[in-house]
Amino acid sequence: MSIQPTEELILAALGTVMEPELHQDLVTLNMVRDIQINGGQVGVTIMLTTPACPLKGKIENDVRQAIMQVPGVEKVNVKLDADVTADDRIFGQLQLPIKNIIAIASGKGGVGKTTVAVNLAISLAQMGAKVGILDADIYGPNVPQMLGVTHMPPPTNQKLNPARVYGIQVMSMGFMLKPDQAALWRGPMLHSAIRQMFTDVNWEPVDYMIVDMPPGTGDAQLSLAQSVPLTGGVVVSTPQDVALSDARRGLTAFKQLNVPVLGIIENMAYFIAPDTGNRYEIFGYGGAERAAQELGVPFLGRLPLDQRVREGGDMGKPIVAIAPDSETAQAFRELAQRLAAQVSMLRMPSAPELKII
Ligand SMILES: Nc1ncnc2c1ncn2[C@@H]1O[C@H](COP(=O)(O)OP(=O)(O)O)[C@@H](O)[C@H]1O
Ligand SMILES: [Mg+2]
Repeated sequence: MSIQPTEELILAALGTVMEPELHQDLVTLNMVRDIQINGGQVGVTIMLTTPACPLKGKIENDVRQAIMQVPGVEKVNVKLDADVTADDRIFGQLQLPIKNIIAIASGKGGVGKTTVAVNLAISLAQMGAKVGILDADIYGPNVPQMLGVTHMPPPTNQKLNPARVYGIQVMSMGFMLKPDQAALWRGPMLHSAIRQMFTDVNWEPVDYMIVDMPPGTGDAQLSLAQSVPLTGGVVVSTPQDVALSDARRGLTAFKQLNVPVLGIIENMAYFIAPDTGNRYEIFGYGGAERAAQELGVPFLGRLPLDQRVREGGDMGKPIVAIAPDSETAQAFRELAQRLAAQVSMLRMPSAPELKII
């Protein structure tokens, strides 16, 4: 008679498989679902903490190998699914179907904050996450232009409806403001406007709400953090020293507001000449990574200066949507994965990487 694997043996085997980023085993992390044993055939579903998990392939492999070690197993069928970890304060305080709110900030304007926010949002959606983007930049609400949307659908149930494009939900101050109106807004008005963009909108469920913040540090971050629970903040910088010193202030502001820093992104880090393939480091190189090290915050990655990024922004056709196979789109996807991993780690109290600076 042949040996039959049992559920206990399969679970014991999966107890040896580590989640490479969360540094705990899959059973402890409660990621194992639906073990099915049919003679020598074993099926299992692994519930990841994000569909943008950067090490999906490794986890799938490790699971298969571990189960194959169990006596009597002949064939393994691994299914990967994802249930994004939630920042429960958002539903708790605002009853919104939003799991995480991620603020994208920058010390200065013009460093590519909106470009990064838009391309990150679409990248996360392309990997299977439910994504919203909220353009809170009253001084230059250009998310609509970068996405090629001009208005929202009509309201229903006395609430606004987000626009939908490239698989994401979009709400922008630009849908509501006339040009030139913005600069008049101050303190309390800004707070209530930002809050309303969350609460007076019919959001469909969102795993990651990406918020494109007004430029500058301090005030804007304060307004947002006082309006809604912020899961974490990201700072975008270019490599020059001046940009970096502003970025440092942005990180410090998040720290003072007790908003976990998910990382720094270095934009316009290098340029590859399309004709020669030569690489130029126009604004210097590596400054943001050094700053991240000094400050003890994650470095999420660097993005090239790429003419197609600018053109895509101007035309409302983001590079990750129209040229998903380009190296630049790949760089955005890797950033999105690292960001998603950082969000997952926040919800793991024992994870050693959790850094709230
Ligand atoms: N990596 C990049 N490569 C080429 N152009 C970029 C890149 N990032 C941003 N840009 C361009 O720089 C300008 C400023 O970017 P934007 O995202 O509006 O900055 P911010 O929101 O920080 O003010 C835009 O014209 C945008 O298309
Ligand atoms: Mg902007």
